[in-house]
Amino acid sequence: MESVLHEARKFPPPSSFSANAHIKSFDQYDQMYRESIDNPEKFWAEKAADLHWFKKWSRVLEWSLPDAKWFVGGQTNLCYNCVDRQVKDGFGDKTAIVWEGEPIDDGQPEVRRLTYQDLQREVCKFANVLKNLGVKKGDVVTLYMPMVPELAIAMLACARIGAPHSIIFGGFSASAIRDRVADADSKIIITADAGWRRGKHIPLKNTVDEALQNNDTQATKQTVKNVVVLKRCGNDIDMIDDRNHWWHDLMAQVPEACPCEEMDAEDLLFILYTSGTTGKPKGIMHTTGGYMVYTYLTSRYVFALHDDDPDELYWCTADIGWITGHSYIIYGILPNRVPTLMFEGAPNFPGPDRLWDIVSRHKVTKFYTAPTAIRAFMKWGDEHPKKHDLSSLKVLGTVGEPINPEAWVWYNKVIGSEKCPIVDTWWQTETGGHMITPLPGATTTVPGSCTLPFFGIDPAIVDKNGNEQPANTGGFLVIRKPWPSMLRGIYGDRERFIKTYWSEIEGCYFAGDGARIDADGNFWVMGRVDDVINVSGHRLGTAEVESALVSHTQVAEAAVVGVPHEIKGTGIAAFVTLKGTATPTPQLKDELIAHVAKEIGAIAKPDQIRFTDSLPKTRSGKIMRRLLREVATGKEIKGDTTTLEDYSVLAKLRDDA
Ligand code: WTA
Repeated sequence: MESVLHEARKFPPPSSFSANAHIKSFDQYDQMYRESIDNPEKFWAEKAADLHWFKKWSRVLEWSLPDAKWFVGGQTNLCYNCVDRQVKDGFGDKTAIVWEGEPIDDGQPEVRRLTYQDLQREVCKFANVLKNLGVKKGDVVTLYMPMVPELAIAMLACARIGAPHSIIFGGFSASAIRDRVADADSKIIITADAGWRRGKHIPLKNTVDEALQNNDTQATKQTVKNVVVLKRCGNDIDMIDDRNHWWHDLMAQVPEACPCEEMDAEDLLFILYTSGTTGKPKGIMHTTGGYMVYTYLTSRYVFALHDDDPDELYWCTADIGWITGHSYIIYGILPNRVPTLMFEGAPNFPGPDRLWDIVSRHKVTKFYTAPTAIRAFMKWGDEHPKKHDLSSLKVLGTVGEPINPEAWVWYNKVIGSEKCPIVDTWWQTETGGHMITPLPGATTTVPGSCTLPFFGIDPAIVDKNGNEQPANTGGFLVIRKPWPSMLRGIYGDRERFIKTYWSEIEGCYFAGDGARIDADGNFWVMGRVDDVINVSGHRLGTAEVESALVSHTQVAEAAVVGVPHEIKGTGIAAFVTLKGTATPTPQLKDELIAHVAKEIGAIAKPDQIRFTDSLPKTRSGKIMRRLLREVATGKEIKGDTTTLEDYSVLAKLRDDA
């Protein structure tokens, strides 16, 4: 009932805010939007001119579905636009990165500030380190690091010399690293002894060692020749193997200058692995020019960034290991010459007010987080944000999953004091940047809706035959025109790229989400329509969790479904059948949960494990996930069960569960 009331409320942009915004009114948005759709080449050429190009493009767009080439013939370097351009224009002393570490000693957290000059020096040095280790343009560099400035330095160094990076989130397991390193044929890993998380060390280097051990069952190619290790926590690690090098030793031996490689606009910038509907994550490819222009512009307009405001300080709480961190901690923000804050630790360490303490101490102006975090803050209690002065905040953002209207309203009231526009940004690893989102000075927001498309984006809601759906009718969310930061492919798997994104609905990019458009034209994303789930805003394939479970010696078969979860948004329920001799015990449940964490990472731990004699299947052998979802949520089993192969399975499921 409450949701319905919230959904009916509309929040026009505050007029005091609009006056200073880049896009000041709905009419201005509307006119620019039309221009961007009618004449995308003109629109994007004008925006791209804000950035530095070594050589100008000859054509803005060449489009032959599913292949887009943006800024054809243009040459640029994203590291140059993030760092060198600011130094060259006289802003070398301005802060680029504010970093806060997790531990608090004697009441004082460790804080580091890097100016553009500092960043340029460190990035050049690390670029020289990479070159000395034999890394050349086009070689994939794997990064498995904590949230420390050296992660930003390493990624920018890769961009500087044209070596695509593949960043693996520090919560992933050894086998996840092994698979990604092998898939990308990466010969070098940059890591750290450990990272801080809730007062403990996360042993990153040990996990890398485990990934690189010869493991016959995984048929891994042992390609890695060098491992560079940053000393962060000072814990004991094994550096015996001669492919290991300390970061500080290598950095002490290199010159402080390194030119930027002149990159073709379509040269590969990075690969980022994300989950799909099979057990194997896909390496999403992003290239240089279009990604640069699009993330720069979305950052500028969506967060209303003002480089001429000396108080501007932007903070995105994501980890750089996810696309949100790539695009909206580093690559879109630094070209806007606005300082970006990086925080190493957990939101509730040492106490549930840690983030608000950071906002008030550093006077953060723009804050970007995930609905799952907002729901956790609500649960922890209003007293924690209320202890701190949050009056510096001007724009609040959310990303990762649909935000429930209750959480939106709480965020607006308790964090934003009802004066900060909220930008609910819908996008994906594949889209590179924000696709459907409010603009804070122009869009009337509605709690729970990501509202309207960004410039140049042409989304629609269609049925399975590609017919556009009427207002308030659910369907598939598709994009009908190419955009600059769209994925250019799946690394090494052209067929999967075409099949996943370009074959479902003719002529359109298929996002994999279900959505509807309301009578005002606002988009409401309902969630995934495939076997991908969003657990705490982290994307996982149910098939990945299933293959982790069946890799346990006692498991015969597993089926995994997403179920509603109060904090995580979606929780994981696993139905497991055991091999002949195995007995279902509570200990085995714990063991299976630990096994999944070991195979994928802690984010994939099932919330429920249910043992069953068999899984409900259709006569053609497909697992009936809808039924499992109903069982897992404790609902009465409704709907059509006539295609069930064996009716008795249902009764057993309910009993065993
Ligand atoms: C979901 C994260 C509703 C969606 C940037 C999408 C959202 C998937 C929103 C991509 C939002 C992301 N409202 N759903 N504002 N933002 N999603 O690749 O299901 O980790 O397909 O990228 O997250 O997740 P990914």
